[in-house]
Amino acid sequence: MRIDPICAWPPSIVRFNAAWPSQQVLILLVMAKSRKVFVCRACGAEFPSWTGQCHSCDEWASVGEAAVTASTPSVGTNAARPLAEVGQEFSLPFPVGVSEVDRVLGGGFAPGSCSLLAGEPGIGKSTLTLQIGLSMAQVGATVVLIAGEEAPSQVAARAARLGPVPESLLVVEDTDLNAIRAVIEQEKPQLVVVDSIQMVRDSSLDNEPGSVRQVKSVVRQLLDIAKPVGVSLLLVGHVTKDGAIAGPRVLEHLVDTVLSFDGERHGGLRSLRAIKHRFGPTDEVGVFEMTAEGLQAVPDPSDRYLQDRQAGLAGSVVFPSLNGRRPVLVEIQGLVGPLAGPVGQLSVQGLSHKRVSLVSAVLASRAGRAFNRNDVFCSAAGGASIDEPAADLAIALALVSALEGRPLSPDVAVCGELGLGGEVRNVPQLEHRLQELYRMGFRTAIAPSAAAQGPTGLTVIAVDTVSEAIALGLASGQPAAAAAA
Ligand code: TYD
Ligand code: MG
Repeated sequence: MRIDPICAWPPSIVRFNAAWPSQQVLILLVMAKSRKVFVCRACGAEFPSWTGQCHSCDEWASVGEAAVTASTPSVGTNAARPLAEVGQEFSLPFPVGVSEVDRVLGGGFAPGSCSLLAGEPGIGKSTLTLQIGLSMAQVGATVVLIAGEEAPSQVAARAARLGPVPESLLVVEDTDLNAIRAVIEQEKPQLVVVDSIQMVRDSSLDNEPGSVRQVKSVVRQLLDIAKPVGVSLLLVGHVTKDGAIAGPRVLEHLVDTVLSFDGERHGGLRSLRAIKHRFGPTDEVGVFEMTAEGLQAVPDPSDRYLQDRQAGLAGSVVFPSLNGRRPVLVEIQGLVGPLAGPVGQLSVQGLSHKRVSLVSAVLASRAGRAFNRNDVFCSAAGGASIDEPAADLAIALALVSALEGRPLSPDVAVCGELGLGGEVRNVPQLEHRLQELYRMGFRTAIAPSAAAQGPTGLTVIAVDTVSEAIALGLASGQPAAAAAA
């Protein structure tokens, strides 16, 4: 005789043994029904035994005992069926009316979808979500704003600055999950904006709002409420310094779309991109500028980044970067000065510090240009943020141009990745980058020799090594002395 497994215990462990007294079997059954876990009140991490300090968030005396009742495995009622026979449902997205948001979402929010808008504090998440709410309410949609971060009066003041406030834009101050459930059931809105998800509380849990356990539970329940009735959710999530959304990246797998909003907080442009999108592409990027009238779309980012450029300046090189699949021209600037202290400093802004260090090491070893007796500054101008290796060659030419006081010709741009041997490597989407250069008035590009042909009217100077690029690039400009004359 055999007892079938209870809960998650494998059959090989729980077998009836005629020699066991019935009391022992009973204890075994009770143990199988519930087990104990120890849960951190601060972050929600679970441990099999008690610990004085949480191993996950380092909080002291935050771990306590909690009983977990194991569920009885249920017998599935849905038999396997051919995928080809499953009906397909297409829900057309409804446009948001903020052009750059619609571009990133591929047309708007799909009904019943859940999107997470993640970004650092102060980047403009509340402003963007309010603009989305205003725009959708303008065309008659009911939008509910759960204001957890700011008082409704503050939200109202901000909204009034951004434009006329339609009647169908509703605000709720209560961040209790039950209150949100009631509002969704009563109003049946097209969109619910939760600003922020870290402020919503599930009162059945004793963890703090914003803890992993709370945030996970809140999002799961919001999905259960909203999805069946076709209500779309837009959740705002603060990203911590190490880049995690809502603490660890606990929400990304639960939601349909993750939108990342980043950029330079002071001045500079902000980029909105989908880093996960179940309903469309992830390579579109929306570009905004924060103004006194809220976030304004920047339809031509290349023009915006190059507008303050002084052509013919030593240390200035134009680089065709790729923002999503959109080529954007950016000015890379180098400055090489005398040592201010006992050792040289490398100061980098808007570029990867590691990449600039690598480029300067390659220049020293492979091109005979050492910077060890100088302080070196290198930046992407205008608050741009570049982390692609395709910028290596432009960084190299900016540094050498600054070191030697020799500018590049104003209509030359540079693009290419550098290998440790000083070789110039190909870059993705070169053709698109070259087209953007031509559109913006550049007539010569220094690019990897594997380069695709540029558009008619753009001369591509193909280079194999960094030394070759320096020789051809710096010869294209006038020497500093001649330029000054
Ligand atoms: P906010 O949207 O509150 O950022 P987040 O929700 O991501 O924390 O706004 C960020 C900053 O933008 C804030 O410091 C004020 C500024 N701002 C403007 O410059 N112009 C405006 O029209 C608005 C609404 C905000
Ligand atoms: Mg905010």
